[in-house]
Amino acid sequence: MKTEIVNADERSISKAVSLLGLGEVVALPTETVYGLAGDATNPSAIKKIFDAKGRPQDNPLIVHISNLDMLFKVAKTVSVDALKLAKAFWPGPLTIVVPKSDYVCKETCAGLDSVGVRMPSNEIARKVIDKFGKPFAAPSANLSGKPSPTDAETVFEDMNGKIPLIIDGGTCDAGVESTVVSVLNDTPIVLRPGVITAEDMQRVLDKPVEIAKAITQEVKSNEKVLSPGMKYKHYAPKANVTILSGTLESFVKFVKKNRRDGVFVLCFDGEEKLFDVPAVPYGAVDDEKAQAHNLFSALRQLDKLGAKEVFARCPKNSGISLAVYNRLIRSAGFKIIEI
Ligand code: TXA
Ligand code: MG
Repeated sequence: MKTEIVNADERSISKAVSLLGLGEVVALPTETVYGLAGDATNPSAIKKIFDAKGRPQDNPLIVHISNLDMLFKVAKTVSVDALKLAKAFWPGPLTIVVPKSDYVCKETCAGLDSVGVRMPSNEIARKVIDKFGKPFAAPSANLSGKPSPTDAETVFEDMNGKIPLIIDGGTCDAGVESTVVSVLNDTPIVLRPGVITAEDMQRVLDKPVEIAKAITQEVKSNEKVLSPGMKYKHYAPKANVTILSGTLESFVKFVKKNRRDGVFVLCFDGEEKLFDVPAVPYGAVDDEKAQAHNLFSALRQLDKLGAKEVFARCPKNSGISLAVYNRLIRSAGFKIIEI
């Protein structure tokens, strides 16, 4: 299949909508990362998404909507908490897990009786849903296991020959995927951190919001998880990544002692010159939004530069940084050394 990259305009949006109607899969920008969109009500379109990504069959997709009426179609019930969160944070990078209705096909949710729903703020994504008149399901537009793509060229690297169309809408704002929160029980619980934090949601709901243990800790192979995505190795470049937690001074010493061919450093802005091995920065030490924005493209760049072994500076693990920490620790296969 020939994969076309087109600029975002009315024509390309119409083309994407026609393809969705034919049960095809198209890649498009959202405010978080690029998504691989298919009709959420069409099992054969959903199968194409899983095939293109090489995604494990038990990992459900997020359903993207453009107005609240669609939420009531997709969800079996909408709790007070769900509605409060939707009204406070939509359109925006928040996925709310609610009980699933029969409107969305079971393949979209990998057979679960819940569904993750989000209303993106990206204009292109919203226009596609509006014109299509139905929600689309969309995972991040990477091959399963690789860092999520934040620009159209990166989508092309992973999806060339597998899908007919990529809409180029420039670089994504957030750079990490949406926050996933489950409101299936009385106490809401964050299943995946993003730029909307537990504290942000606590303020709106006026009650505690839990953070799932698996966000910062490795899940054992026989452990039951709240979100299938927690089980899988994610965001991994080809290189072997290790996070070093400690002062900058001890980090520099560690790298000096362990320098050899193929060793690279993933550091904060301005630190590059301190190392005698190549270094890729991913944002200023105190700029959590920049780190979120840059992390995935920095991980992909390390691959392109031929990194075999990467030592990474450790982000904080609170606020928006928790999202950065969560992605980086997964890309490192949970290898973190205190130095
Ligand atoms: O920002 C985003 O959310 C991007 C853009 C394209 O919208 N999408 C995205 O989708 O990151 P994906 O498929 O890469 O990640 C979806 C995550 C997975 O970890 C999945 O297990 C979880 O959400 N998820 C989806 N539905 C769920 C459900 N019903 N219950 C628990 N977890 C769910
Ligand atoms: Mg993904």
